Amino acid sequence: MVNLKNRHTLSLQASCNNLYEVENIQDLDSLDLDHQHYFVLGGGSNVAFVEDFDGDIVTFTNKQLSITENDDSWLIETGAGVVWHDLVLQVTQKGIGGLENLALIPGNCGAAAVQNIGAYGVEFSALCKGVQTVNIKTKEIKELTNPECCFGYRNSIFKSTAGSDLLVTKICLQLPKKWTAKLTYQGLDSLTTGATPLSVMNKVIEIRQSKLPDPAKLANAGSFFKNPVVTAEVACVLKERYPEMPTYHQDKNGVKLSSGWLIEKAGFKGKKVDSIGTYEKHALVIVNYGQGSGQTLLRFVRDIKEQVRDLFSVTLENEVLLIGKNGVINL
Ligand code: EPU
Repeated sequence: MVNLKNRHTLSLQASCNNLYEVENIQDLDSLDLDHQHYFVLGGGSNVAFVEDFDGDIVTFTNKQLSITENDDSWLIETGAGVVWHDLVLQVTQKGIGGLENLALIPGNCGAAAVQNIGAYGVEFSALCKGVQTVNIKTKEIKELTNPECCFGYRNSIFKSTAGSDLLVTKICLQLPKKWTAKLTYQGLDSLTTGATPLSVMNKVIEIRQSKLPDPAKLANAGSFFKNPVVTAEVACVLKERYPEMPTYHQDKNGVKLSSGWLIEKAGFKGKKVDSIGTYEKHALVIVNYGQGSGQTLLRFVRDIKEQVRDLFSVTLENEVLLIGKNGVINL
């Protein structure tokens, strides 16, 4: 049995049967992996082990990093085990722009692709040229182009059944040399003149630190739920009832609402049950104050979903993956 408490940033007590750290694709051949029950883990910042997992865990630790260039772009290749924020720091400190809005997002580069991380108006998918994968069962290595990754909002092929055997081993980013600052998000608009990749990154870090808890100090997994997208009609009805409710128009896909706002309005901001609660400065983040259990977390999450559904007729979808005895749990 291997303890997983320090392997996921929500730090719930849980274990797995075996944990394999793999640095190179060839090393997969020598693993005695349980092919029926296994889970691929990155930095653990977007999963919650809510009970002992009766299977094996494999994590790809390769940290190789190369930065090359052509006439128009910087090309960055990194092993899936590179810590995402370390990459952002290294690249941005070289004066290369493109990653700065995604500073301080916890997790590894492999998970950045799986999760299609996004923040402050930029998504991973806009920067990604391709992803190298290996099929855990057949050991076949495949380079997926950006469209083949089927990126969506906090989604990709790697989260679907079609990609469930694919282990992300390397990511390739393409950052155009012609850089323009993306400052549309509230809080970044104060920067306008003379913004550099470094000044934008520092501002993003400042904003995140002011409202999101540092997982190293207070266990959490970032936004626990996705922001729901509803039809224009549903948004209109809600807006009539709650004129102050934030809404974000999506092209043809409807209107995105703010889960943080909905959860706060449902009375959950800063609420605590035993050691599990929502962060006092941001209701979308569920935190573990120390001794939180998976069962308390599940009850708390169900409670939030139920109250939000009763009040707004909106269903919240988890962003964080819940892993139980037999694998993924759908709440
Ligand atoms: N809000 C509230 N109460 C709260 C929290 C937020 O009313 O307790 C309101 C804010 O006032 C604001 C709106 O909700 O009007 C949106 O809040 P915020 O700007 O903090 O962004 P978010 O939609 O809650 C998303 C991402 C974050 C990302 C930020 C910035 C999702 C699920 N979350 O959060 O990503 O950092 O935008 O771009 O899309 C993550 O995925 O783990 C994550 C932290």
